[in-house]
Amino acid sequence: MAGPADAKTEKRRWAKPPCFRYNLPVSSTPKIELRGVTKSFGDNHVLKGVDLDVGAGQSLVLIGPSASGKTLILKLILGLMRADGGQIRIDGEDVTGLIGKAREPYIRRMGMLFQQSALFDSQTVWENVAFRLLQDKGLTRAQAKALALDTLASVGMTPDVGELLPAEISGGMQKRVGFARAIASRPEIVLLDEPTAGLDPIMTNVINDLILDNVRQLGATAVSVTSDLEGARKTATDIAMIYDGKIAWRGPVASLDDSGNPYVDQFVHHRGDGPIQLAERAF
Ligand SMILES: Nc1ncnc2c1ncn2[C@@H]1O[C@H](COP(=O)(O)OP(=O)(O)O)[C@@H](O)[C@H]1O
Ligand SMILES: [Mg+2]
Repeated sequence: MAGPADAKTEKRRWAKPPCFRYNLPVSSTPKIELRGVTKSFGDNHVLKGVDLDVGAGQSLVLIGPSASGKTLILKLILGLMRADGGQIRIDGEDVTGLIGKAREPYIRRMGMLFQQSALFDSQTVWENVAFRLLQDKGLTRAQAKALALDTLASVGMTPDVGELLPAEISGGMQKRVGFARAIASRPEIVLLDEPTAGLDPIMTNVINDLILDNVRQLGATAVSVTSDLEGARKTATDIAMIYDGKIAWRGPVASLDDSGNPYVDQFVHHRGDGPIQLAERAF
């Protein structure tokens, strides 16, 4: 029988953060670390030494002009591309040189929503969502389908939608399906590229709420790219601004309006004049 002493112990136990609760070593290792990362395409030197830490459970939103390398950073984290120089670490482990099979265990811990949703046209909605589950997890088709339908439900979609093809649903629904696919395998890291681009304001809100709820529920670490600053304010714990191949500013979302950084200021206040050149602006 649990006496008062047990109840007290229990209370104390739960008052402590998880690392103490389970006697795990206290770790300040970021979930994702980029150190001096460089990447060029011919003469186009896109990343010129990107330093970026994302702590476990943080939701970092990356902002910056068009073609500044935001999508590229997500692809380097995911391992779809290889950096020219610098280091990328996941949970403190150096993954910079790992490609193909060696990178797979890390890729399996991540889910990504691509800018154009990138759904497979010839597969049904549920098959799209279950894509990784069917490939990686050794589940039966029925189990994968059940998990996919569960995930679709968590983004507000009914099982009958699961049977449709991507071409049979709207752009907003495709984004939701893309997001469901990104979170279906319950990843530790969620990467989202322009999750609300091209959506109307109402659907933008719906998607941002889904991101907030689901990423929080997973306890995942998130890195998103967006031009939707209102969405960023809602879903981010931290903001980083990339400019001219480097992180020009990084801070908590609450500091966005008084960053003291002219690039961030111009971006946040949509000003035509400022250090960001017209040709580079993404807004
Ligand atoms: N596979 C590639 N081959 C050549 N150039 C690329 C490739 N991927 C990205 N780039 C270039 O890198 C720059 C950054 O691209 P990207 O990360 O997509 O920008 P954004 O910040 O808009 O997401 C762009 O100039 C783009 O043309
Ligand atoms: Mg992009």
